[in-house]
Amino acid sequence: MLEKVNQLKEEIEQLKATSAEQAEALRIKYLGQKGIVKTLFQEFKEVDKEVKKQVGAPLNQLKNQIQEKINALKLSFENQLSKAENTEDLTKPALELPSGSQHPISIVRNQIQQIFTCMGFSISEGPELEDDWHNFTALNFPPEHPARDMQDTFFIKDKPEYSLRTHTSSVQVRVMQNNTPPMRTISPGRVFRNEAISARSHCFFHQVEGLYIDKHVSFADLKKTMLDFAQQMFGKDTQIRLRPSYFPFTEPSAEMDISCFICDQKGCNICKHSGWVEILGCGMIDPNVLKNCGIDSEKYSGYAFGMGIERITMLKYQINDIRLFYENDTRFLSQFTSA
Ligand code: PHE
Repeated sequence: MLEKVNQLKEEIEQLKATSAEQAEALRIKYLGQKGIVKTLFQEFKEVDKEVKKQVGAPLNQLKNQIQEKINALKLSFENQLSKAENTEDLTKPALELPSGSQHPISIVRNQIQQIFTCMGFSISEGPELEDDWHNFTALNFPPEHPARDMQDTFFIKDKPEYSLRTHTSSVQVRVMQNNTPPMRTISPGRVFRNEAISARSHCFFHQVEGLYIDKHVSFADLKKTMLDFAQQMFGKDTQIRLRPSYFPFTEPSAEMDISCFICDQKGCNICKHSGWVEILGCGMIDPNVLKNCGIDSEKYSGYAFGMGIERITMLKYQINDIRLFYENDTRFLSQFTSA
C-alpha cells in the first residue's frame, strides 16, 4: 500500500489541466465521493496494524498534496479569467448615460432672451415676493383696481403690504428707479395669479416683460421691435396686428396678434378661424409711471411689452394643456430639444 501511495504522490506532482473544467474533473477523480483518496482510506481501514503505522502519515500527506495541487490548478484559471477581463479595450466609448433635457419653458425663454439681447436689451431679475408699491402703485394702478383684488393676487398672511408678484413689470419699476435713461431691458421670471387651474390657466406661470426708455421713443419703435421679435420667433413671413387695449401703466396700449403660422391664416382651431393669435400686451409707458420712478417724463419716453412664456410655448409646439408643463412627466418633457 505504501508503494501505491508513493506512486500516487509522484503522479500528483505531474498533474496538469488546460482548463477550469479539467481541474474540476481531476478533483472529482481524486477527491470525489468515489474518488481515489476515498477508496485508499477505505482500504486503509482493512490493513494490519503494522501497515497502518507505516502508511498513516504518508496517506494523509498524499491527501493534503492532492488538495493543494488541485486548488493551485483552479486558482491559475481564475487568475487567467480576471486577466482576460482586465485586457478589455479601455479606449472603448463608455456606456451612454441617460441625460435630462431642457424644459420647454426654458428653451423658449432662452430663445426670447437671445432675440432681445441681440437687439441690445439687458436682462434684469427681481424678487417674487413683492410689495404693493412695486407691483401696483408705481405702475399707476388706482387703489380700487380689480387686479389688486383677492381674486387675482396672492397676499401674504400677516403682511398685507406684500404679495406674490402678479407680473414682472415690478422688476421694471426697480430698473427705472435705479438707472438713468437710456435703458433697454427685459425681465423674465415667474409670476403668480389666484386663478382656477385649467387647461388654459394656472396659478403661476412665466413672463418676459420688456422696456425701452430714451429721448424720442415712439410707437413706431415699439411696432418695429415687436415685428422683428415675432418674425425671429415664429418665422420671417409672420405679420403682426396691434389692437387697442388698456393697461394702467401704458398709454396708448395695445394687444398684439401674430398671423397664424399653423394654418397660414386659412383658419384653424388655434386661431379660432380668425387667422390671428394674440401673443402679448404692449404700449407707451404712461408718463405717470415714469414720474413715479424718478424719470423726467418731459424729456424721456418709452415703450413696454409683456408676454407669457407658456402661451408662446403652447403655440410653438401646439401643446393644448398648460398643466403638462408642471407635471414633470418625462414622457412629455423629453420630446423637446433646444436645437
Ligand atoms: N404686465 C402686463 C401683464 O402682466 C403685460 C404688459 C406689460 C402690458 C407691458 C403692456 C406693457 O399682463
